[in-house]
Amino acid sequence: MPTPTRIAAILRQQPVGQELEVCGWLRTRRDAKGGFSFLEVNDGSCLANLQILADNGLPNYTDEVLRLTTGCAVRARGELVPSPAKGQPVELRASQIEVVGWAPAERYPLQKKRHSFEFLRTIPHLRPRTNSLAAMTRIRNTLSMTVHRFFQERGFVQIHTPIITTSDCEGAGAMFTVTALDLERLPHRPNGGVDFRQDFFGRKASLTVSGQLEAEAYALALGNVYTFGPAFRAEHSNTKRHLAEFWMVEPEMAFCDLVADIDLAEAFLKELARAVLEEAADDLALFTRFVDPETERRLRQVRDQPFLRLPYTEAVERLAASGRSFQFPVHWGADLQAEHERWLCEELAGGVPVVVYDYPAEIKPFYMRQNDDGRTVAAMDVLLPGIGEIIGGSQREERLDLLERRMQALGMDAAEYQWYLDLRRFGSAPHAGFGLGFERFVQFATGLPNIRETIPFPRTPK
Ligand code: 4AD
Ligand code: MG
Repeated sequence: MPTPTRIAAILRQQPVGQELEVCGWLRTRRDAKGGFSFLEVNDGSCLANLQILADNGLPNYTDEVLRLTTGCAVRARGELVPSPAKGQPVELRASQIEVVGWAPAERYPLQKKRHSFEFLRTIPHLRPRTNSLAAMTRIRNTLSMTVHRFFQERGFVQIHTPIITTSDCEGAGAMFTVTALDLERLPHRPNGGVDFRQDFFGRKASLTVSGQLEAEAYALALGNVYTFGPAFRAEHSNTKRHLAEFWMVEPEMAFCDLVADIDLAEAFLKELARAVLEEAADDLALFTRFVDPETERRLRQVRDQPFLRLPYTEAVERLAASGRSFQFPVHWGADLQAEHERWLCEELAGGVPVVVYDYPAEIKPFYMRQNDDGRTVAAMDVLLPGIGEIIGGSQREERLDLLERRMQALGMDAAEYQWYLDLRRFGSAPHAGFGLGFERFVQFATGLPNIRETIPFPRTPK
């Protein structure tokens, strides 16, 4: 089978006069008087379709071409010619058209009209054939490559951290258990609990909520590392910002403090915004036009404006002084809610991302470095307008005695974390890192109202 020329390349290079072969899916067919038809074909390589001109000189014009409907797979050969029509520089004058796969109109769920995202979610296997989901997928790809380029150019080493783990990084109790036990006949311990000693791993294992702890081990050997992989959380947060399975980008740096960590997070977000604006401009324009008119402006703000950095204590003071009546009252020690994050970003900072740092220790996980004030830890969250928390990170507690005391206070089983404590026993060094929720950034970059449209097959409660 000859390799077809991709439509993106045809529109870029416009090799007029050349004989080409194009393969894709029919978006529309328009029949004109005089025995010819215009076929709009999309092959997924870009948002734009290629117009193919088919006429009754084709041997299968009446029995096949005139029966082509939206969604059919077609292969066309012909000469590329300048197009007389507005809005397209070139079109293909077909000398041969082959129907590769029919899509019977009475059963094909994607018709020419616009479908709601809710409806499209019921056909996740077909929705990539819509402009919006295909554009999202290409933007997601651009972002994914940008993640790797950003860290590789800075000498970070990519680490594939495990998906199955026995350590709970965030301590939020939202892990999915991985077991090979027969659920109909679970072995029990004398005291009643499930006897995971008889399980595949000989202990209770789960899907990871974050690759951080394992990344720390490698940062304290290779210096700067990052992991970019799936994370799983069994939180019952049925919101527009939560998935049960999502992808996280987690850099971890040795000999690094919180300030340098925030600097890297800011540079990283700026580079992601730049990449979408410059490398995915056509797909981005679709979202600005049809989904959220503010999408491009918000990306430019991230790219061009310095972020506002605010200690948690000051953020709480500002919120309290705002005069707003929030659904969740603000007071020192409370976690910031979405409404607070939005006010900080959208009202206080005027749409510029906000970095809140030095959070109360009680609302943050065990591994964060304790500040000298005895009540806060060296944590930071980056907030984006419209999204809220996009990044969570911290400097890690590198002092063995303080870490052990903290774990004890939280009632953690130190035996499970001996390897993690070893990192503090042998050649411990200050280190820091963060995690970026990849889908949340795709959401920011597209303006899509629900995170379920930012990943091919969303996994959510029920
Ligand atoms: O703030 P989180 O929980 O931080 C960590 O997991 C750290 N261990 C990261 C690190 O320091 N290496 O999660 C990081 C980010 C959040 O800011 C958010 O953007 C995203 O992951 N996130 C989710 N995205 C989609 N669905 C969910 N259920 C998410 N939970 C967190
Ligand atoms: Mg967080």
